[in-house]
Amino acid sequence: MKKIGVLTSGGDSPGMNAAIRAAVRQGNALGMRTVGIYHGYKGCIMGNFEEFQLRDVSGIIEEGGTILRSKRAPEFKEKETQVRAVRKLNKEGIEGLVVIGGDGTLRGANALHEQGMPTVGIPATIDNDIYGTDMTIGVDTALNTVVEALDRIRTTASALERTFIVEVMGRNSGYIALMGGLAGGAEVVLIPEIDYDLNEVAKGIYQGYKKGKQHTIVVVAEGVYREGSAAHYVGQHIREKIGFEMRVTVLGHMQRGGSPTAFDRTIASRLGAEAVKRIHNDDSGIMVGLHGNRIVSVDFSEVASKKKELDMELYDLAETLSK
Ligand code: ADP
Ligand code: F6P
Repeated sequence: MKKIGVLTSGGDSPGMNAAIRAAVRQGNALGMRTVGIYHGYKGCIMGNFEEFQLRDVSGIIEEGGTILRSKRAPEFKEKETQVRAVRKLNKEGIEGLVVIGGDGTLRGANALHEQGMPTVGIPATIDNDIYGTDMTIGVDTALNTVVEALDRIRTTASALERTFIVEVMGRNSGYIALMGGLAGGAEVVLIPEIDYDLNEVAKGIYQGYKKGKQHTIVVVAEGVYREGSAAHYVGQHIREKIGFEMRVTVLGHMQRGGSPTAFDRTIASRLGAEAVKRIHNDDSGIMVGLHGNRIVSVDFSEVASKKKELDMELYDLAETLSK
């Protein structure tokens, strides 16, 4: 294989650039040329290609976002569009593809592979909701951002003896809420994987207040409520019933930004390089991921069909430690 492509798609996550850098440089080490494809699958269809030299990926390891940009391309779910994309890639001489992104992106990667383009996926999303890998690129950075925010909120919550409802990202997954709440010492964590009786939640907060708590922090994943802001929805339901004054904070997209942590840069570098080695060895139709500290690979079909479950022991731990 002489020429490969690399693209990022879907929601960005800190560390995507480190993975792009690793792909370009590992490709070069194996004697391959690497083409950057801009704007995800849209760029495949439109032919937004640029061949990268080693120096084109200098000074990006510390940058959040993605130098390749990202876009959503709903039309890519149609077979006809996928076929057109493969034709465009073939015309450019691209013989293999490294795709970096979340679960939707990996479904697209599977589709491209099935249309005849050898493809390897790299899991990158702050949601950490992809089957087959313990960690995704970006979640560690996002968690550090959430924990810093919770620490700051706790000081003001404590000063004025207030309850804070803090909404974090996670449309379909409670991972950020659970781990952020655990590491940030939250009193309550609400995640989409569990149904709640908000009267009971309010009762629990009131009991904590009676036992002498100086403040309460409730971390809510955005996916707990689909019709609007989850934090405002929860706040509305418990406002009257708690013993503290209450405020709502929605952390929003700040969780996706910022410079990647050492952990995210490291896994991005390892996975980026591994993806290219796999393509070079004609091993494709897979996602590379992490199991413990080991790099593993999982077939796209498994990634697409299986659901990553949250570790409920950690949920119980967060609850026990919040008393
Ligand atoms: P993420 O990758 O962060 O989960 P999305 O779910 O928005 O983000 O998916 C990103 C892009 O991946 C979509 O805009 C679309 O181009 C492509 N994609 C998503 N699902 C599929 C699918 N089932 N088949 C083909 N392409 C898909
Ligand atoms: O990156 C994943 C994610 O952060 C989800 O948790 C969130 O619901 C979604 O992206 C929002 O992304 P956007 O605003 O780009 O649609």
